[in-house]
Amino acid sequence: MIDEIGAARETALTQVAAADSLESVTMLGTQLLGKKGPLAQLKTKLGGLSTVDEKKAAGSAVNEAIQVVTAALEFRNIELSEAALAARVQFESIDLTEYADRPTRGHAHVVTQAWERLEDVFIGLGFQVAEGPEVETDWHNFEALNMGEGHPARGEFDTLFVDHAPAGGQPGRTLLRTHTSPVQIRTMLEQEPPIYIVAPGRVFRRDTPDATHMPVFHQIEGLVIDRNITMADLAGTIEAFTKAFFGADFSSRLRPSYFPFTEPSAEFDIQRPDGSWLELGGCGMVHPNVLIAGGLDPEQWSGFAFGFGIDRMAVMRHQVADIRDMYVNDIRFIEQF
Ligand code: DAH
Repeated sequence: MIDEIGAARETALTQVAAADSLESVTMLGTQLLGKKGPLAQLKTKLGGLSTVDEKKAAGSAVNEAIQVVTAALEFRNIELSEAALAARVQFESIDLTEYADRPTRGHAHVVTQAWERLEDVFIGLGFQVAEGPEVETDWHNFEALNMGEGHPARGEFDTLFVDHAPAGGQPGRTLLRTHTSPVQIRTMLEQEPPIYIVAPGRVFRRDTPDATHMPVFHQIEGLVIDRNITMADLAGTIEAFTKAFFGADFSSRLRPSYFPFTEPSAEFDIQRPDGSWLELGGCGMVHPNVLIAGGLDPEQWSGFAFGFGIDRMAVMRHQVADIRDMYVNDIRFIEQF
């Protein structure tokens, strides 16, 4: 009997060791340890043994065999689970070594680069960065900037109106901002002077795209409000900016012009090292009506403002022939900058 038990135990252990899948381990478990299994069968024969000692010895041999086989099944189960996991990890792993030698790093879009450099330069000159909403009220975009209802300058802006009316806006008098100048008004209403801010941002006009126009483009606005600010401060700031942004061999000039929101108004040009002039943007002394709309007393405060296009600067800097190329997101074009 003892020999029979020993043989059954050895056979069972060989079978367990040979099991090559988790399913076969489970099946073997029921087969070997179930009621009809070899060890259970031997157990039923214990009663047929003649002496108590024989029964005791055979009984503990069967129980020990059951324990040993149970442990072997558990061990085989763990072994196979670990192998299965390792195989899955191996299968799902991605070989990245082919990228190890040539890391392909992306970079900011050329317009974003210009935007960020402009911010850096103005921050260096002591300005803070301000923001305003892209969906604006007619009041902030025109009225408060000294362009009342029927002002001819409104026509030049090719405005896109929207049906939606944000808080404080009136239906039919809500628009996509046509310039960053409304941020002047919002800043004056929000913070006490002295104010030294620049406001870069996206602006919109009802324009058909062509080589030099896009219906969505970017501007940067500047606003300074303090006591005793004069046109000389404006000219000095434009000159300092020109040298800091373009280089020491560039200079600037102001040309008389007209904008409803400044008086006097000017356009500013920069001179390249080769002597040629490039028109950059508009500027001027903040009109008293604009100060009043911003809640400021023109007898106490004065200031200057300026604004220019960011996309245009990027186009000129990199000699891009067609501004539309900047927005088709063709990676072969974008990668050049
Ligand atoms: N907002 C003007 C435009 O979009 C640009 C401009 C001109 C802004 C003169 C200014 C300024 O702040 O003083 O055409």
